[in-house]
Amino acid sequence: MQNKDLKKFYNRVYSRGEGKHYTKLVLDKKKITDEKKEILNEISWEEKTVLDVGCGTGELAYLVARKGARSVLGVDYSKKAIEIADKSYKSLNPSYRCEDISDVRGKFDVIVMAGVLEHIDNPLLFLKKTKNLLNKKGSIILTCPNWSNARGYILLALKELHGAKITLADIHHFTPLEFEDWGKKLNMKLSWRTFEHGWGHGDKMIEDLKKRLPKLMKGKKEKEINNFIKWLNEHTPKLEEDRKASGAVALYHFSK
Ligand SMILES: C[S@@+](CC[C@H](N)C(=O)[O-])C[C@H]1O[C@@H](n2cnc3c(N)ncnc32)[C@H](O)[C@@H]1O
Repeated sequence: MQNKDLKKFYNRVYSRGEGKHYTKLVLDKKKITDEKKEILNEISWEEKTVLDVGCGTGELAYLVARKGARSVLGVDYSKKAIEIADKSYKSLNPSYRCEDISDVRGKFDVIVMAGVLEHIDNPLLFLKKTKNLLNKKGSIILTCPNWSNARGYILLALKELHGAKITLADIHHFTPLEFEDWGKKLNMKLSWRTFEHGWGHGDKMIEDLKKRLPKLMKGKKEKEINNFIKWLNEHTPKLEEDRKASGAVALYHFSK
């Protein structure tokens, strides 16, 4: 799978409605997701010029503008996403543009991307190009799924050993290790943290696996799946929330 193949996929997701695609564990339309809250709380957005890469239906760009950013541009290659963003949050700030992110020009104080880097063919090259769009003291703040936890190891074993389709759109399965390497290669400072620990190795993981495993095993091995989930439920130690790398979602902040 390549990034260009995902354009059609995302147009379909947004046409059907995001609620049908994302599990309710991630998306609860009534409130802002923890992922967006983490991004919003990462810095002061006052007077910043911001680019939201892969802005989807525009909520994050809107929230950043409400936090006092001077200008926010949201860019996404899904025409449907931008139509919805324009309809939902029409204003001069944020503005939205249907464009491939490799075509974006300009300079920004902060470049933000929520759940996008895992869909990019060559993430390091992409981060290098993104760095070129930053002003002198600029930052890149991004979030992505994190796989260095019990849920990640279980699902990746099924993918690698049994060819199970564990995600519909992810090209990469990141852990903090590659980001630490990229920070050095980009010559940028890096800080990071993970969150959603219950999803990485706790109650939400059990709930998620109960739904996913029967689908991944195509209805076979029902008894074995039940036994496995029972074993996990009884034997997965409730890891400390402060285990730095074990949350299901990670936030990376590169700064110049
Ligand atoms: C998982 S969604 C995240 C959407 C949004 N950031 C959010 O958090 O709600 C990934 C988004 O990246 C967009 N995207 C992926 N590759 C892109 C590219 N090359 N150019 C522009 N947008 C892209 C997709 O269309 C999709 O809307």
